[in-house]
Amino acid sequence: MEKFVIRGGKALSGDVVIGGAKNAAVAILPATILAADKCLIENLPCISDVMASLQILSELGASIRMISKNTYEIDTTHIDCTEVSNELSRQMRASYYFLGALLGRFGAGQVAMPGGCNLGPRPIDQHLKAFTALGAEDSVEYGMIRVRSNHLTGGHVFFDTVSVGATMNAMLAAVKAEGQTILENVAREPHIVDLANCLNMMGADIHGAGTDVIKIRGVKELHGCNYSIIPDQIEAGSYMVAAAITKGDVMLHNVIPKHMEPITAKLRAAGCQVEEFDDSMRITRTGALKPLKIKTMPHPGFPTDMQPLMTVLLCLAEGTSIVTEGIWENRFRYVDELIRMGASIQVDGQVAVIEGVKQLMPAPLRALDLRAGAAMVMAALAADGVSEIDETVHIERGYENIVEKLQGLGADIRRVDTPVNAVTRAM
Ligand code: EPZ
Repeated sequence: MEKFVIRGGKALSGDVVIGGAKNAAVAILPATILAADKCLIENLPCISDVMASLQILSELGASIRMISKNTYEIDTTHIDCTEVSNELSRQMRASYYFLGALLGRFGAGQVAMPGGCNLGPRPIDQHLKAFTALGAEDSVEYGMIRVRSNHLTGGHVFFDTVSVGATMNAMLAAVKAEGQTILENVAREPHIVDLANCLNMMGADIHGAGTDVIKIRGVKELHGCNYSIIPDQIEAGSYMVAAAITKGDVMLHNVIPKHMEPITAKLRAAGCQVEEFDDSMRITRTGALKPLKIKTMPHPGFPTDMQPLMTVLLCLAEGTSIVTEGIWENRFRYVDELIRMGASIQVDGQVAVIEGVKQLMPAPLRALDLRAGAAMVMAALAADGVSEIDETVHIERGYENIVEKLQGLGADIRRVDTPVNAVTRAM
């Protein structure tokens, strides 16, 4: 096990290159199953969720060739298995995308039933609603969810709630279904568009991704493609917060400024300067931080995955901020860690009221989940003194080389091995 040791209080400056989007990659990798051919996928972030997806593909029968750290050739021609084992599917929550992809190609798929998670309940009723509309049946047996259909046909789905996962899973299942599928009230995140672009490169016929209605005309066959995944909006937003919280000056490379707009708008309102270029952005802060009101919403609203990071930033604003979580039931658990650093935050249900303080104090911290963990890194970078963050495995699930990238910006951060019994004693 590892922990991060961070001596905060240094302004970050310099250049950082943003990696490929995790939440696009975990859907695009299963999508290669539909090609039944060779796909070259570039700009894959080197993180554990991607490695788990590649391992699942390999166990299903795909041949995987690493071209470079971020580029893999995946040949799904000889996949002959439709069941993702319990052990593998539980390594990552997004393994549910294998259901849609396997159903789309073979008319059957099985993965472990995703349970609740540390953000709150994580139902997949909307995924199943879409599969049913395409003519599939589902059943749960011994913790595994199984979907099957002898003949998938296009269908009309009006989602009850806007869901990233259900939208992408429905697209995966529908691209080869006979006839037209219409998906309404869909998610519009950049990774939805990325998956649609990738599937269209494989020969699919998808229109409307990025709006709230997606129309898919089923095709008989797909084929291989070369595809480069979009930059990670949340990783980019995290380094913007790192610059803002340390009064730094950071240039981000490999970003799509348009995708950053909901985040950029709030950082500007908080008093940061953000300059946009073609595929890079510069963020600086010289003056005081201003308080904000933020409510997380589906894209193009403010992304829930940035909520913990912005809450940390607002701990140091001059005044009272209000952050409302509009997506997940339980995404303020990390607040207790911030309070131990001297933050003044009151949470009532989905709403956090943050009274800005002058400074955060160093403390021993835990990464409770991926984004909460990243938020702890931000808090430690701002605190004057040494903080240690445990359970960093959650952070490394979604941030490629976070320690090295922050060191490149001048942060005093290192990874340290933690003897297992030391962690047990501390708990
Ligand atoms: C994706 O999760 C992301 N994960 C999450 O990022 C992100 O927080 C979330 O979208 C919202 O943007 C991946 O892409 C792998 P949803 P997803 O389905 O698709 C409810 C991170 O930190 N819902 O859009 O699982 C659900 O309970 C992670 O990178 C249903 O009710 O989220 C939630 O309240 C954490 N029924 C809301 O919809 C369903 O069938 C949105 O969930 C599906 C979802």
